[in-house]
Amino acid sequence: MKTLLPALLVAAACHAPVRHPEVVPRAGDPHSFAEPERVRVTHVALDLELDFEESRVSGSARLALERSDPEAPLVLDVRDLAIEEVVGSDGGAREFGLGPRQAGLGAPLAIELEPDDRHVTVVYRTGPGAAALQWLSPAQTAAGRHPFLFTQGQAVLTRTWIPLQDSPGVRVTYEANIRAPEPLVVVMSAEQKGRAPDGTWRFVLDKPIPPYLIALACGDITSREISQRCAVWAEPVVIDAAWAEFADTEAMIASAEDLYGPYLWGRYDMIVLPPAFPYGGMENPMLTFLTPTVIAGDRSLVSLVAHELAHSWSGNLVTNATWRDFWLNEGFTTYFEERIMEQVYGRERAEMEALLSYEGLRREIAELEPWATVLHVDLEGRHPDEGFSGVPYAKGALFLRRLEEAYGREAFDEFLASWFAEHRFESVTTADFEAFYRERLARDGEALAHVDLTAWLHSTGLPLDVPVPRSEALELVDAELARSKAGTAPAELETEGWVTQQWLYFLERLGSRPGGEQMAALDAAFRFTQSGNSEILCAWLQLAIRTDYAPAQERLEEFLMTVGRRKFLQPLYEELMKSEAGGARAREIYSRARPRYHAVSTGTLDGIVLADE
Ligand code: BES
Ligand code: ZN
Repeated sequence: MKTLLPALLVAAACHAPVRHPEVVPRAGDPHSFAEPERVRVTHVALDLELDFEESRVSGSARLALERSDPEAPLVLDVRDLAIEEVVGSDGGAREFGLGPRQAGLGAPLAIELEPDDRHVTVVYRTGPGAAALQWLSPAQTAAGRHPFLFTQGQAVLTRTWIPLQDSPGVRVTYEANIRAPEPLVVVMSAEQKGRAPDGTWRFVLDKPIPPYLIALACGDITSREISQRCAVWAEPVVIDAAWAEFADTEAMIASAEDLYGPYLWGRYDMIVLPPAFPYGGMENPMLTFLTPTVIAGDRSLVSLVAHELAHSWSGNLVTNATWRDFWLNEGFTTYFEERIMEQVYGRERAEMEALLSYEGLRREIAELEPWATVLHVDLEGRHPDEGFSGVPYAKGALFLRRLEEAYGREAFDEFLASWFAEHRFESVTTADFEAFYRERLARDGEALAHVDLTAWLHSTGLPLDVPVPRSEALELVDAELARSKAGTAPAELETEGWVTQQWLYFLERLGSRPGGEQMAALDAAFRFTQSGNSEILCAWLQLAIRTDYAPAQERLEEFLMTVGRRKFLQPLYEELMKSEAGGARAREIYSRARPRYHAVSTGTLDGIVLADE
């Protein structure tokens, strides 16, 4: 996908044409234009102003450089950025030019360097559609009084708010000076260095991270301590509920350290964002970003916190070098998440969640194109988002579970701990993993024959030796489902003491189309329409759409109008689009809700709701 820059580069309007040295395309990261093997960015110093009136970030990024090829230009990734000026080490202007744009990836920004340039400063502002930034109106927050801003960098969005080498193989340290209007508070995925006398917020991260982990949030937020090294941030009206929901986080950190080695990032804080956040969670270092839909009141959905915490090892410490290797982030993390859940909440809870995830994967694989079911996925010519599915998560975790089964928990844990320790602060490929595995785990040829790495990593679908999680608690649900099918009324089912995962399993297995009377009886018995648990509600609303269950329609609309989490929106809109009347309703609601959704969500939903317009 690399283009040959010299022939195609066009100088920015106000600059003389640039003479461009040879730029060699290479096989590294197909989603970045950067050429770090020639000139590499090692540190980013941001000086930025957040303008809520104009929905714009402006200022400068000073980039420290490591120059392996003294003749080579610096090539950055930029998308929708207005570059005003580039200044070299001596304060003098440097020539720069933008190459051709590629859909979803932006364009290369080539900067001509002087021999003595050790750093350059790029003066810029973000464009109106910067996909990494979501600017929320006060109405989109819990308290409704102040605006809110958050960033989302993964996978290739950081280049829409910072000009840098936006490849997970290029690690940088960073610092930032941020100005924001009073009384808003700024937090970042870095160490907080307080406020300068002029009100500027200061941050430093001295550990090298991939650029997709640079993150910022700004709003009327406050924090409350969970342990000495862990706090939660949220709007004041949400903070107590958030604190109560995440009170087990310190136990999770301790458990994770116990499994795979010390937590190396200092603090582990979390921020609960407004419901427009398009993901469940995002593992920004030192500051996990969370959807408020994880707050259920009973800690039943906190495996999401275990997941984002686990990324502090798998993902943030040891990072996928390209988006083809995404399973190294998410598969490892999902496996690790299950292990934390087992330690903190017991094996039954962990196995329920593992089985739900296994079943979800089976359903998903049946629908996916074969190429998308491969762990080491071929993304050549594809946007990283196209590789996003349950496959890197659940199939990746099942693969590690299979290895655990083959080599024993003790040996496998030791192997994983050394994988993290020996690759810390590095970006790694699938081939790196295979080599490490052969050297450290499969030393005897016999065991190698046990687990077929080609089948697991490079082939479609699920291998025959897939380990299937078992859960007695879910077998109890199977028994009640059987009674229900045989005619037992919902109110007569034995559901006392059921936990969220049992309800989810129940709803998913109810059958594709309960009758109207059955829906009403279920709702009367279990009050699903009123559920304050977002996962249960979302599963129920899918049934309500399918069966045209009128009493839930208002709740559905309210949910679609307030929640921006793609994982929930996608199945609901898909379900609506299956009927003509539903399609009309989906388009009507979507036209009102769309301006409130993040670019990540509309990127997926446009293809579902507006597909044949
Ligand atoms: N890193 C991901 C979110 C992500 C992936 C953002 C790819 C952009 C591109 C995060 O750790 C994640 O996996 N979140 C999940 C939650 C999890 C419990 C499966 C989510 O948001 O649903
Ligand atoms: Zn993840």
